[in-house]
Amino acid sequence: VQQIEVNTSQAKAQAYPTLLKQAQALCQGETNLIANLANMAALLHQTFGWHWVGFYLVQHTELVLGPFQGPVACTRIAYGKGVCGTAWEQAKTQLVPNVHKFPGHIACSSLSQSELVVPIIKNNEVIAVLDADSDAINHFDAEDQQGLEVLCQFLAGLF
Ligand code: SME
Repeated sequence: VQQIEVNTSQAKAQAYPTLLKQAQALCQGETNLIANLANMAALLHQTFGWHWVGFYLVQHTELVLGPFQGPVACTRIAYGKGVCGTAWEQAKTQLVPNVHKFPGHIACSSLSQSELVVPIIKNNEVIAVLDADSDAINHFDAEDQQGLEVLCQFLAGLF
């Protein structure tokens, strides 16, 4: 009997390329943004089981809650506020190992301990952010960051 050793890193290394293919297949032929983002939130939640995962969409001076999976969340976040607003302001991914140490963190759910927020950029402008929250400290790593950044490049094309 052949034994296959699977550690977390190997499993994750395979998870992200598979996820991207599934995302492309799910969105193929569908032009409705909300329908596509809703399936993306479900796909991410099903794949990784994160506490909360979803989108905030840029609308004027605020981020407005979009499709997500998980507990109810804040509906609006101002530019530069919290982890999501910072990702928007800096147009840069925010990998936060411990949200309690992030100045101005917005606690939508008291269970959230670590976060990964990736901006979705189109024509050099942030148009939305993808927010992944875990109920474990230090849950996300550079591999998650890279995987979600690649996914977000694809998602930009849906807008
Ligand atoms: N934690 C985020 C707010 C969004 S919720 O956690 C779903 C933030 O500080 O930007």
